Amino acid sequence: MKILVTGGAGYIGSHLVDRLLAEGHHVVVVDDLSTGSRANIQHNLSHDHFTFHYDTVLDKALVAELMRGCDAVFHLAAAVGVRNIVADPLSGIMNNVRGTEHILEAAVQSGCPVLFASTSEIYGKSDQLPFREDGDRVLGATSVARWSYSTAKALDEHLLYAYASRGVPGAIVRYFNSYGPRMHPAGYGSVVARFIGQALAGAPLTVHGDGQQTRCFTFVDDTVAGTLAAARQATTTIEAFNIGSSREITVLELAELVLRLSGSSSRIEHVPYQADYGAGFEDTRRRVPDVEKSRRLLGFQAATPLEEGLARTIQWFRERASS
Ligand SMILES: NC(=O)c1ccc[n+]([C@@H]2O[C@H](COP(=O)([O-])OP(=O)(O)OC[C@H]3O[C@@H](n4cnc5c(N)ncnc54)[C@H](O)[C@@H]3O)[C@@H](O)[C@H]2O)c1
Repeated sequence: MKILVTGGAGYIGSHLVDRLLAEGHHVVVVDDLSTGSRANIQHNLSHDHFTFHYDTVLDKALVAELMRGCDAVFHLAAAVGVRNIVADPLSGIMNNVRGTEHILEAAVQSGCPVLFASTSEIYGKSDQLPFREDGDRVLGATSVARWSYSTAKALDEHLLYAYASRGVPGAIVRYFNSYGPRMHPAGYGSVVARFIGQALAGAPLTVHGDGQQTRCFTFVDDTVAGTLAAARQATTTIEAFNIGSSREITVLELAELVLRLSGSSSRIEHVPYQADYGAGFEDTRRRVPDVEKSRRLLGFQAATPLEEGLARTIQWFRERASS
C-alpha cells in the first residue's frame, strides 16, 4: 500500500514509519520538523519505498496532492506538548484544526481512510475513572490555555465523524503518555524525557506539586501496535480507541524508578506547577484508560513492562548523548 504519514519525522510517527516500511508498504512523510527531527528518519532516507517532504499540512494544495493515490493516511502532525501549547496557544489551535481539515477535505476526493492521532487530554479532568471512550469530557475555563489542546483535538474528532457522513472512513486513537526512544530530549511535554535527561545530567528531578498525580505510561512499540490495529478497523462508523497501559503510577514513583534504573544519584525536588507553566495552570490528577474496548475490538494490550521500556529509553538517551 501507499501510505501517507503526517508528522512522520516525530517521535511516534517515525516508529510507525519503521513498522510500515518493515511490512513492505510505500511510505510518504510530510513533516515541518517543528518538533520532529531529520535524525528520526535519517536511516530511511535512502530506502526505495520512502519519500520525505519537508513541508506543512497547513498547505492545503500539497496535502491534496500527497493524498492522491494513497491507500491510507496516518495523521499525526500536530502542535504537541503542554509547554508548547501554553507558550503559543494560537499556533497550536490553528495547526491542530486546519491540518486535520485539510486531510479530511482531501480524503473526500481520494476516498482514503484516515487514522487520527488523538489524546487522553480529551478527557480533561474528568473523575470518571478509568476513562471510557464514550465518557464525558470535563474541562476547565477557556481562559486556561492548556485546555485549548484538548478542545482542538476534540474538534478534530468531531470533524472525523462529520466527514464520515461524506463517505470518509476513519478511526481515532487516544494515546496515553507514550514514551520511548526518539522522544524529544527537551521533554517539552513528556515527564519521562524530563526525568531521564535530568537523571543522566546529575541534575535534580523536578516533580510538579506533591507528585501524587498519576499516569499510565505506554511504551512506543505498544503505541504503534495499537495505532496499526485501529487503522485496520477504519470505517465510516468511526470508533475511538484508548491506546495505553493499564498500570497506573504516581509521578513521584516514576521519578524514583528512573533514578533506580539509571543508577543516578540525583535528588528529587518538588517544584510548583507555576514555575514551568505560569499562574493558573491546571493538571489532570489521575489519568487511566479503560482498555476493554481496544482489547475486545483490536486485540490490543500494552505488553511492555514499564521497567523494561524505561531501561530501553534510558539506554537510547545515553547512546544519543555519546554520539
Ligand atoms: N506522545 C504522547 O504521549 C502523545 C499523547 C497523546 C497524543 N499524541 C499525539 O500523537 C501525535 C504524535 O505526537 P508525538 O508525541 O510523536 O510528538 P512529535 O512532536 O514528535 O510529533 C509531531 C510531529 O508533527 C510535526 N508537525 C507539527 N506541525 C506540523 C505541520 N503543520 N505540518 C507537518 N508536520 C507538523 C512535528 O514536526 C513532529 O514531527 C500528535 O498528534 C500528538 O498530538 C501524543
